[in-house]
Amino acid sequence: MRRIAFALLVACSAPLAIAQAQKAPAVPAYVPSVGQEGKDVVWVPTPQALVDRMLDMARVTPKDFLMDLGSGDGRTVITAAKRGVRALGVEYNPDMVELSRRNAEKEGVANLAGFVKADLFETDFSKATVITMFLLPEINLKLRPKILDLKPGTRIVSNSFTMGEWIADDTQNVEKDCDSSWCTALLWIVPAKVAGSYKTPQGELTLKQQFQKLSGTLRTGGRTLALEGKVQGERISFTAGGRKYQGRLNGKQLELEPAAAKG
Ligand SMILES: C[S@@+](CC[C@H](N)C(=O)[O-])C[C@H]1O[C@@H](n2cnc3c(N)ncnc32)[C@H](O)[C@@H]1O
Repeated sequence: MRRIAFALLVACSAPLAIAQAQKAPAVPAYVPSVGQEGKDVVWVPTPQALVDRMLDMARVTPKDFLMDLGSGDGRTVITAAKRGVRALGVEYNPDMVELSRRNAEKEGVANLAGFVKADLFETDFSKATVITMFLLPEINLKLRPKILDLKPGTRIVSNSFTMGEWIADDTQNVEKDCDSSWCTALLWIVPAKVAGSYKTPQGELTLKQQFQKLSGTLRTGGRTLALEGKVQGERISFTAGGRKYQGRLNGKQLELEPAAAKG
């Protein structure tokens, strides 16, 4: 009798249990809020139109490896991956890392878009050919020595914030579809370290360098000419005595191309 009663009880309560299980609230999806605390910077997402512009300015191609320092919800990494670029987001908040991974899955680019939970100050970004960031001016300054030691030609793109007296090589404002205070992108190209003296077929060249700006002298034909120019990645260009010169640092050797005709 007891067994029958028990069987009846199980039979009656099973559908109820299934219905309850079906109704049981799922674990709510993590929803970040703009302005939420981060380790060194709060989370504010870069407007999509500016993400697009930042990647345009860096001229990313599938040959690049992009790293976003403080990657938030992963939008820059995911956008780069959609352009065929292998990209890695470094984010301290583990919930944001999980959210980014889910977003990359949803967008079908999880094969190219990776995310690590890490402190950007402890992260080796020397393999990146493009670095994107939306941090703070003082953080950019703290990162600057490490950035200047990256391979010449590495492109750095920052949402809005500058890099102290290292003036950006390009600054662009996005007006269309950017309804926010964060609509300016700045690009720097890591300059080779070219300061020094070089004997070249065009004369003896002495270069002083401040970030990408060059000054110095060219001793040629018994005259010493002041020069001004710039270095972009491994390429240099300058004007001396009204003539334009360009060249390239090849290892420790500076290869200068013949001067363009005057005028
Ligand atoms: C202003 S948000 C930018 C997010 C994203 N890069 C974008 O442009 O949409 C800065 C991000 O950096 C993260 N962050 C702050 N300090 C960090 C640190 N020391 N290491 C890694 N991530 C950090 C924050 O959690 C936040 O998601």
